[in-house]
Amino acid sequence: MTLEEKAKLVCGMGMTSKKVPGAVGSTYEIPRLGIPEIVVSDGPAGLRLGGTFSGVKAVYATAFPIPAAMASTWDLDLLNKVGVAMGAESKAFGVDVLLGPAFNIKRDPLNGRNFEYLTEDPYLNGRLAAAIVKGIQSEGVGVSIKHFAVNNQETNRMSINEVVSERALREIYLSAFEYVVKNSDPWTVMSSYPKINGVHGAQNKYLLTDILKNEWKFNGLVMSDWFAVKDPVAAVNAGNDLIMPGGPKWGGQGDTSDDVLAGLKNGTIKEADIDKNIKNILKIVLKTLSFKGELPTNKPDLKANVEIVRKTAAEGMVLLKNESSFLPIPKKARIALFGVTAYKSIAGGTGSSNVNKPHIIDISTGLEKAGYTLNDRFKGIYTKYMEFQNDILDKHPESADWEKLSYYRTVIPEMDLSKAESIIECESKKSDIALIVIGRGSGEESDRRLEGDFYLTPEEKLMIEKVSAQFHSLGKKVAVILNVCGVMEMNSWKDQTDAILLAWFPGQECETAIADVISGKVNPSGKLPMTFPVDYYDIPSSRNFPMVGHTNDGKNFNYTNYEEGIWIGYRYFNTVNQPVAYPFGYGLSYTVFSFREPRLERKKDKWIASIRVANIGEVSGKEVVQLYVSAPQNSIQKPSYELKAFGKTRDLKPGESEIVKLQFTDYDIASFDEDDSRWFTSKGTYMLSFGSSSRDFKAAVPFNVNKDKSWKVHDVLKPVEKLNVMRLPVK
Ligand code: BGC
Repeated sequence: MTLEEKAKLVCGMGMTSKKVPGAVGSTYEIPRLGIPEIVVSDGPAGLRLGGTFSGVKAVYATAFPIPAAMASTWDLDLLNKVGVAMGAESKAFGVDVLLGPAFNIKRDPLNGRNFEYLTEDPYLNGRLAAAIVKGIQSEGVGVSIKHFAVNNQETNRMSINEVVSERALREIYLSAFEYVVKNSDPWTVMSSYPKINGVHGAQNKYLLTDILKNEWKFNGLVMSDWFAVKDPVAAVNAGNDLIMPGGPKWGGQGDTSDDVLAGLKNGTIKEADIDKNIKNILKIVLKTLSFKGELPTNKPDLKANVEIVRKTAAEGMVLLKNESSFLPIPKKARIALFGVTAYKSIAGGTGSSNVNKPHIIDISTGLEKAGYTLNDRFKGIYTKYMEFQNDILDKHPESADWEKLSYYRTVIPEMDLSKAESIIECESKKSDIALIVIGRGSGEESDRRLEGDFYLTPEEKLMIEKVSAQFHSLGKKVAVILNVCGVMEMNSWKDQTDAILLAWFPGQECETAIADVISGKVNPSGKLPMTFPVDYYDIPSSRNFPMVGHTNDGKNFNYTNYEEGIWIGYRYFNTVNQPVAYPFGYGLSYTVFSFREPRLERKKDKWIASIRVANIGEVSGKEVVQLYVSAPQNSIQKPSYELKAFGKTRDLKPGESEIVKLQFTDYDIASFDEDDSRWFTSKGTYMLSFGSSSRDFKAAVPFNVNKDKSWKVHDVLKPVEKLNVMRLPVK
């Protein structure tokens, strides 16, 4: 290979592909050496080909539920099947590498991309992501696990310096990547935009070479995020094998590869070093469909995928509240349906994980199709109102579809019901129940706002208040469906409702999946993969999350101090014993489960735990067993509980039971010692709690670790600046 060819091969060909129109990137082909173009495309909620970003006509593919919804299933088999379906679809369209899954930690609820990510917990993150990776790759299509690492906010994402302690990095931000790399052999890793302790992800040798390649033995390909590389020479030398999208320089003259070639010629890049990158690229090239000459059929099994979407969406819904078993709702019930999102529902988020879907049917139509009767008057009023809003939005250049519209969600106000009291009064008499749908869009490139996004808008507050008061005055019940991207404030209004179903963005089967759960065709079994706090300011990261969406001034933020350290989500709330609106791991069912016969034994180097879960209610259902470990307190503060294993039962009929068997190792329960750059598990007595959430423990068994253990790692990635890492008051 000539130097020119080497320089070209380590840079992509721009946001384009010769083979697959609408793909988001491709690599350089060298026909004389039999090296084909490799095609890559997004993303975590299904394949995105074409559409507004590309100038190429949208190709319709299956829009899966957003990853936040997938994570709420806590079901490894199901996510593996989702992965297989995504892989098969990518293969059918000739895409060699699918850019996902994405599993940055949900550090703060205002992160605009949380909907694309999985959880707030590194253990859960790693296991779920590995199941998806294995599924996708079983189809001969590679993944790009992303964004490595610490891509936890959109505000100034290309320039921000994320200042993070080594302990938080290792225990919280890198740990799931470590698990996925070591256990599911991802073909590629996507390095991230921000600086991590001073150096951009894509140019960070400590991260990419010392940790990922040398320590974790990753032997696939590292590609940069799109336009993340500021200095191609630094990226090549750091071990970022492929600079994406490459091609013409961003806003400048020439091609990205010119800089690499110049580096090779002037000696800032050694040929032996670029050869390592080339080798990593070629290893992956050899595995691809393109190299194997498999031609796209362009005929994915969309029908089969519809079933997986519907099932995953329904299983990912979380029943947050259900007073006096209000849900499921019998088909004969006459429903008064409120909320603009009920009449224009949201299937997915915006940005690179948007999927072009042929249609989205809204929740109102879904309920009618399922056999419910909707109150005509409200249906008419909302339909008219939405037509009016659509007229406004059609004039907006970005309002081509509802997902893009959801991006501008906050400019589409909920209807002001303050003057509709007499209509509500009159129509409530003709209806049996009220259903209120609350919607929240979210997307790449901007963070969420606090007012009118994390918190309800004044119109939404009023709608919940008025509708609940009127229906309750007649002894009729009210449920809220959340068609949302992520965590919201709920504490101030949840008491006004009888039931709350968190439906997320359920993908293209939005309407059927919601009707399945509302009608009881599917018994909800989803569990929250993140905490819903009482208030935003209860979250430690709120002290330094740049609230640009809030203040509309992102310009002044060039660093974010992760002062909360490891105290993310339930790790913090449980340890300080602070009330939350809904805890991590929480979710109700239409049936009831009992837990008995907890056991724990040591077999060779593993802890094997089991517990019998019985369905003691009246309908079939599934339950998630969650194992939390409490470590003895010693030199460093440990969270009071940490998830270390989980498993979901099969669908248990009333009266049936299943023994759920789970395992973990001493390494799984280790902490990170910054002074000594090592993982360690100290000897002592630990407690294993069997829970149905992080705050509902059914049994606990103590266990002893007999001797201290430690695992030495590289002493890298220390924060340069002083970081005041939060310490919790000693108990
Ligand atoms: C996103 C990536 C995505 C890439 C290609 C970037 O803006 O951060 O997640 O894979 O674009 O579309």
